[in-house]
This record gives sequence, C-alpha cells and structure tokens, in this order.
Amino acid sequence: MISKVVQDAMNEQINKELYSAYLYLSMSAYFTGANLSGFAHWMRVQGKEEQEHAMKFYDFIHDRGGEVTLKALAQPPADFKSAVAVFQEAFAHEQRVTASIHQLYETAVREKDYPAQVMLQWFINEQVEEEKNAGEIVARLKMVGDHPGALFALDHELAARAGE
Ligand code: FEO
Repeated sequence: MISKVVQDAMNEQINKELYSAYLYLSMSAYFTGANLSGFAHWMRVQGKEEQEHAMKFYDFIHDRGGEVTLKALAQPPADFKSAVAVFQEAFAHEQRVTASIHQLYETAVREKDYPAQVMLQWFINEQVEEEKNAGEIVARLKMVGDHPGALFALDHELAARAGE
C-alpha cells in the first residue's frame, strides 16, 4: 500500500509530466507555424513521451492501492523568440523536472517506500537522457546562429526522430 505522502507527491508529478506534454505540444505548434516541421515533429514526439511518463506514475499509484487525482494544467507559453529560445526553455524545464524527481526520490527514501525507489530509478536515468538531448540541441542551435541552411539541415535531422 502506498503512503499518502508518496501518493500525493506522485499525483503532483503526474501534473508536472502532463504539463510537460502540454508545453512541448505548444512548442511543436510554434515550430509548425514557423515552417520548421522537423523541430515540430521532435517536440510532438517529446510531448507524447511525457504523457507516457505521466501514465507510469498513474499506473504505479493504482498498482499500489492508491488514488489518482488529476489537477488543473497551467497554460503553457505559446510565443517564443527563436528556435534556440524554445530549446533553452525546454532544457531549463527538464532541469526543473529532474529536481522534482530527485525530491520525490528523497520522499520515497524517508517513507521507506522501496518499490517507489526502484520505480523512480528509471526516471532518474531518464532525466539524464532528457537533459542531454535538450542541451545538445541548444548547443547545436547556437552553432547554427543566423545560417538558414544549417537550420534547415538540423530541422531535417530532427524530422527523423522515431515516434508518432
Ligand atoms: Fe518526463 Fe521530460 O521528463
């Protein structure tokens, strides 16, 4: 049986993961509007992954005899200055999610919830990957600078991301 403390923290995390999905969908819409369909695709796939993250918590709470409570989602930003600004925001967002996962892990340790600790290890590893992916694209967009040819090449590359 899951403790109320861990259950409440995981319900908060469901909201954060679903907000991530919403944020990345908004970023995808921005890229579609900017005629960068590869970036739009990458963000759309990312948003779908975030929904899957939310569902991992959703299922875990139910599997442990707990109660899922879905909370209101905040409105994500829709106006971005540039492709690099979008990915800088995505990178900063992932850093916040990482901090949240680490806090959740600390809660599971305090509560002596061993199954939650094992489950959260997947997320700890996943966040390393999430930060790496967003950080790499920020670095590459900085190299692209004001060169449309290089931007289109990167757009073409990101269009190949599996998913959707
Ligand atoms: Fe679910 Fe991007 O972390």
